[in-house]
Amino acid sequence: SLFSETLSQIKDFIRFCLTPETQTKTDPAYQLWEAMRYAALDGGKHIRSVLTVETCLAFGGQAASALPTACAIELVHTQSLIHDDLPCMDNDDLRRGKPTVHKAFGESTAVLAGDALLAMAFGIITKHTPAALVPAENRLAVIQDLSNVASIDGLVNGQFVDIAYESKPFTPEILDYIHLNKTAALFRFTTRAGAQLASASTTDVDKMTYFGRNLGLAFQIVDDILDIHASSETLGKTAGKDIEQQKATYPALYGIEASRQKAMTLILEAKSALSEVSCQQERLVALADYILHRIY
Ligand code: IPE
Ligand code: IPE
Ligand code: MG
Ligand code: MG
Ligand code: MG
Repeated sequence: SLFSETLSQIKDFIRFCLTPETQTKTDPAYQLWEAMRYAALDGGKHIRSVLTVETCLAFGGQAASALPTACAIELVHTQSLIHDDLPCMDNDDLRRGKPTVHKAFGESTAVLAGDALLAMAFGIITKHTPAALVPAENRLAVIQDLSNVASIDGLVNGQFVDIAYESKPFTPEILDYIHLNKTAALFRFTTRAGAQLASASTTDVDKMTYFGRNLGLAFQIVDDILDIHASSETLGKTAGKDIEQQKATYPALYGIEASRQKAMTLILEAKSALSEVSCQQERLVALADYILHRIY
């Protein structure tokens, strides 16, 4: 496909980070590493990491500048899925077409594998981002942003409110709070970081932040629609869970058709913002369209 080169670079880099050369099967923590590799290496669409690398390339940066950050965001995302699937959260048995980490390795290993992946992400950016290509202030800005979106300005507060509103009445404001935080925050990080790692201007970085935010919100709306419309086999995760657990979703509040419309509008607005940015457009437009194509 259009992105196979980027995808294989990302997968190789993740594998490299999760396979220490010095490790043997006699390592007392070998099973923990196995759980981390099980979660991060098989399956997954890699949309967040591809967006990171492709945004950097679109601004004339090199893939090497963005690969460590792309790997980091994929590990943070993987951690969020491991914990999202735990019995105390969404209680899911299937992920990426195989048993969830806690089903395959036990709950304590799943929690610890998630902890390790999350903390590791920051070290990967600091250790592997080429100092010769990316100025220190840009590297630090990316790390600061990741800390925010992976914690209380994104993922964790989003997941908190998602869980708090299970089986409860919710408003459009609460729904947007959940989706903008639990999902769109990581997406806005990807395109923002990609631009920063290529030393784009502040104005362009801000426009790319908006582009990623819209892609992320559309992505979660599409995920909500697919939870109703697609099969567990296609999704690689158990379909129909949102209705069963009475989650705050777009289809639950607005119905399927209005939700599709909303996703389409978000992608249109994203592409319109992108068109004002002086970068290579084509591949980023293709990534924005890919999100919608999942439901059209
Ligand atoms: C699933 O994300 C969680 C959501 C935010 C909807 P993805 O659909 O990107 O999951 P993988 O990485 O491809 O498995
Ligand atoms: C994903 O929300 C949010 C995360 C941050 C993990 P979901 O709970 O809808 O994700 P899936 O459907 O289990 O992948
Ligand atoms: Mg969830
Ligand atoms: Mg879930
Ligand atoms: Mg879902």
